[in-house]
Order: sequence, then C-alpha cells, then structure tokens
Amino acid sequence: MPNHIPSRMTAEDGYYLDIIFNHLKSRHNLDFSQYRKSYLYRRIHFRILHTKSSSLKDYVSFLFAHPEEYLKLIDALTINVSEFFRDKEVFKFVSDVIVKEIINNYIDPTTGTLQKKIFVWSAGASHGQEPYSLAMIFTKKFQERGIPLDMVRILATDIDDKSLEKARQGIYTSKEIETVPFTYKKFFQLDSLKKEARVEEKIKNLVSFSKSNLVLDPAPNYVDLILCRNVFIYFSKELQLKIMNKLAQALNKKGFLILGKIESIFNPPPELVVFNNLHKVFRKVR
Ligand SMILES: C[S@@+](CC[C@H](N)C(=O)[O-])C[C@H]1O[C@@H](n2cnc3c(N)ncnc32)[C@H](O)[C@@H]1O
Repeated sequence: MPNHIPSRMTAEDGYYLDIIFNHLKSRHNLDFSQYRKSYLYRRIHFRILHTKSSSLKDYVSFLFAHPEEYLKLIDALTINVSEFFRDKEVFKFVSDVIVKEIINNYIDPTTGTLQKKIFVWSAGASHGQEPYSLAMIFTKKFQERGIPLDMVRILATDIDDKSLEKARQGIYTSKEIETVPFTYKKFFQLDSLKKEARVEEKIKNLVSFSKSNLVLDPAPNYVDLILCRNVFIYFSKELQLKIMNKLAQALNKKGFLILGKIESIFNPPPELVVFNNLHKVFRKVR
C-alpha cells in the first residue's frame, strides 16, 4: 500500500468499508453510515498505515485478528480536538449577549430573581473544555448579579467514552489552559509540581457528563442554549439537516444554538433564524 491516501475509493474499498461500519454498528452501537465517506476513508487510512496493512481488505483481517484495534479506529474516526474558549470572540459573545438575553428572559423584574433554572447542552463536548468554559461564564455572570449558581445546569454529551472519562476528571495540563482568558483562570487550582490545572469543584458541580450519540439517541428537551460546535464536519448534508431539526426541537422558544465557526447549514429549519452570522448563532423563534 502506498504511504499516501488514495484520492479515490474503489468498489472493493466500499465493500470493506461496509464490513467495518456494520461491525461498529452491531458491536459498538456507532452508526457511521451517514458520515461523509471521504472523511471516513481518510481517517481509516491513517489506521491502515499505522498497522502496516497492505490494503483495506488486509486491514479488515487485522481488525478481526486484533479486536483491540476497534477502539483505536473509533478514536481515529472521532477527532476529539477541543480547547477552552475555542474561538474566544464566540465565547465573548456568549458572555456579553447570549447569557444576558437568557437571564433577562427569565428574570422577575420586581424581585430580580430567576423564575426558572437555565438549561444548557454542550453536544459533542469532547474532553470537557467547552462545557467547563460555559460553566465559568455562567458562574461569573451569576456572581455579578447575585444569582445562585444552582440556577444553571449544563449537560455535556459525547459519543466517545475515553473523552468523557477525561472530561469528568477535569484535569488539564498548563498548556491546555493557555487559551483560558485571564479573568477565568481563577476557576482552576494549579499544581505547579505536577504542572496540571484542576477545574474547581463549584464549576465541575454545574456540569454533568453523559454518553449520547447525536444521531441515534433522543435529545434532551427544554434547552435554553445548545453548543454543537465542530461536530457537523463529520456528517453528510442530509444528516446535518436531520440533526439541525433535532436540535431545533430540543430548544425552548427563544433558545439559542451555536455551531462551529466554519460550519454552514443551508436551509436550516424555519423555526431557527440566524441571530449572529459571524458567530454561527441561531435563535428559535417559534
Ligand atoms: C472536534 S470535537 C469538538 C469538541 C467541541 N465541541 C469543540 O468545538 O471544541 C468533536 C466531538 O464530537 C464527538 N462526536 C462525533 N460524532 C458524534 C455523535 N454522533 N454523537 C455525539 N458526539 C459525537 C466526537 O467524539 C468529538 O469529541
């Protein structure tokens, strides 16, 4: 096998890809059938090269002989790259505009108290940087306005067990927290000996992690803010629309959805209108 990625898939490749996907579906409950084939083909090729297999057919034999390779393949198929406050101007917009809008929506003007708990969903949360960034933003805002912290709940879901395990621990390297703006650094406990940073308990307590497949599993209901960023890249156009509908259903009226900076959706469901095009923010209008 050449050590570059072939640009075209042959009919034989298609046959062996189907064998792999059927196995992932029946044994691991992972349905990649509607993911972009070109994307999957590229990712699988990294594993083919890594295992020194000579072809896709040879790699399928390798998988059968070494079942532990399935986990490495799943890892390769689900890229888990994330960072705290990824695209910091988007998170500034969340802090300056969106959180304020949601709070104002629920605040009782006479008593100044929130009438309802705010529910946030980070879908495709990877190693937890995204939901923890949100928890820090809400904590800062709530502290400024004297709102009790238990008035927000953040659900963080992902398909990948290993990512969720790291996310639940909430321990990051000093390098990993470099993107955290100065004002939020206080929410970490630094261990200079181990060169690691732990997310403070009060931030961790706001976030619950759960395994869930955006394609197959039901979405939560009555959500005020959904972040589903850099997840759509895996999906075919049809699947993107299906998931957009699912996310629209999950939102409360006036709720917000934020996609990744480079993700664009043509023909979003009519109840979702563009709230800010630059930051890929939608709002549910009915
Ligand atoms: C590139 S990371 C994005 C993390 C974070 N949202 C961000 O923008 O930094 C994509 C995440 O989506 C998850 N993912 C991929 N397909 C998924 C699915 N069908 N259901 C739930 N999570 C999925 C992957 O496991 C991965 O952790």
